[in-house]
Amino acid sequence: MAVLEWIETLHRDTVLDKQGYMELIADCSEEEAKTLFEKACAVKEQYYQKEVYVRGLIEFSNYCRNNCYYCGIRSQNRCVERYRLSPSEILSCVEEGYALGFRTFVLQSGEDCGYSAQEIGHLVSDIKKRHSDCAVTLSVGERERDIYQYWFECGADRYLLRHETATKEHYEMLHPKELSFENRIRCLYDLKEIGYQVGAGFMVGSPYQTTEHLANDILFLKALEPHMIGIGPFIAQKDSPFADMPNGTLNQTLLMLGILRLSFPKVLLPATTALGTIDPRGREYGILAGANVVMPNLSPVGVREKYQLYDNKICTGEESAQCKHCLSNRMESIGHHIVISRGDYFDRQKRQIDK
Ligand code: 5AD
Ligand code: FES
Repeated sequence: MAVLEWIETLHRDTVLDKQGYMELIADCSEEEAKTLFEKACAVKEQYYQKEVYVRGLIEFSNYCRNNCYYCGIRSQNRCVERYRLSPSEILSCVEEGYALGFRTFVLQSGEDCGYSAQEIGHLVSDIKKRHSDCAVTLSVGERERDIYQYWFECGADRYLLRHETATKEHYEMLHPKELSFENRIRCLYDLKEIGYQVGAGFMVGSPYQTTEHLANDILFLKALEPHMIGIGPFIAQKDSPFADMPNGTLNQTLLMLGILRLSFPKVLLPATTALGTIDPRGREYGILAGANVVMPNLSPVGVREKYQLYDNKICTGEESAQCKHCLSNRMESIGHHIVISRGDYFDRQKRQIDK
């Protein structure tokens, strides 16, 4: 089939077979991508109109026990100055964010053993006690199922854990042998079963990635049915084993966003910071390709430089309020607007209101 036919089919059926996804990814021209983005935006607007949800990201620790080859805060990177925010510092980021209108907080860190499961649990319940109108998202890596269960009982609503790649052989090229593809996938299914709104995702243009890997990623997501999908371009980090690898591109990331929107009409799809890093208007283009979430940084300015998963990350010098205003202007410039709400997955919005 020709690319335009694949786009039509995907728009109608919300799924293609592996061959269809591979042809679409490999052969879509810039002109054809425009058609894809128009359809993707139309689908998004059926559910979310021109509303963009915001999540306040608090990067509370850059300690990490893992050594993923692509990542700037990997354990073997001796060039990173490590930091860990205290619970009271984290809570003051939340208060600042709340005053700015944020109603979702994403607590993200490396896999830091310095914070116990109990401490994280208490932090979540503290935030929920202070602000019952807010959603708390955790993004702290692979843990045992009973810990995920415990945090859920403490009040955590959502969990972000990118699968990184759904192809085992590719996973093993990006990670040291201590990390297991099966365990990562197990975590995602556990999180879903427990009842979290789950976010998975992958990097676009990561080292050794092929079109087939990307098709596998979409088909894996089809099986998992996550509520959120976080994707962004791979960006080389100078002190990592992948320092000399080429970055993912703006166009390929946008293409993947458009394909994901047509494949998952209701999914929460962020225009990520990495996308804003490879192009000054990357996040705006991401929204116009079908994304509907942005995640400004609420971390204290003093630590932002230290949480560099990749080089040249944007927003490391800006205060939270500046990022919020900057993003709100950026969204207005493309006819969208930021909303003050928890920004739940479409099917869960009603339930949250009833609660
Ligand atoms: N470039 C782009 N994204 C990266 N991540 C980690 N390192 C990089 C990099 N060099 C992404 C991973 C991880 C998320 C928190 O950030 O996908 O899951
Ligand atoms: Fe941080 Fe623009 S979003 S400065």
